[in-house]
Amino acid sequence: SIELRELLLSRIKDVADYPKAGVVFKDITPLLADAEAFGALTDALVDLCVRHRVTKVVGLEARGFILGAPVAVRANVGFVPVRKAGKLPGATLGQAYELEYGTAEIEIHADALTPGDRVLVIDDVLATGGTAEASLQLVRRAGGEVAGLAVLLELGFLNGRERLAAELKDAPLEALIRI
Ligand code: PRP
Ligand code: MG
Repeated sequence: SIELRELLLSRIKDVADYPKAGVVFKDITPLLADAEAFGALTDALVDLCVRHRVTKVVGLEARGFILGAPVAVRANVGFVPVRKAGKLPGATLGQAYELEYGTAEIEIHADALTPGDRVLVIDDVLATGGTAEASLQLVRRAGGEVAGLAVLLELGFLNGRERLAAELKDAPLEALIRI
């Protein structure tokens, strides 16, 4: 709803020139510190879990962990972390993706999903889409079905949605706020 969008947007703070000159950082910590806003965000994401018959929430390190974990608990489904490379102790699947300079890699435990799992991938911000694209690839390689990708904030001018179109296939990209 417009009311939810306005509430959430009012609790995201623009920080100029962070982490470097010319970048406007979207700081979600005021939203997390506000029980009404964080609760409303969680409720909206739980609704998506119900609507898309989700059986696992995958959260993307680090801010996707904060948003995704309470959603999994309230939706009564398991939570699976996608972590930056080298942090998971078991057998992993890894996926590299392009950064502005160089590449990064994220991982999932190879046995974290069971065939037939319907996964909602949750992150805070969709920017270029590199992180989300790699995570969708990991979910599929781990045997999961992508039920959707949900983000709090989509930065439309970075065209992440277009980049993700091929990997999303028929799965929805749900952005609670798009700017
Ligand atoms: C940020 C953000 C998203 C990602 C979006 O994470 O939380 O996960 O970048 O960028 P992209 O769409 O261009 O891939 P980041 O890795 O910077 O930090 P975090 O560990 O604090 O989440
Ligand atoms: Mg992140």
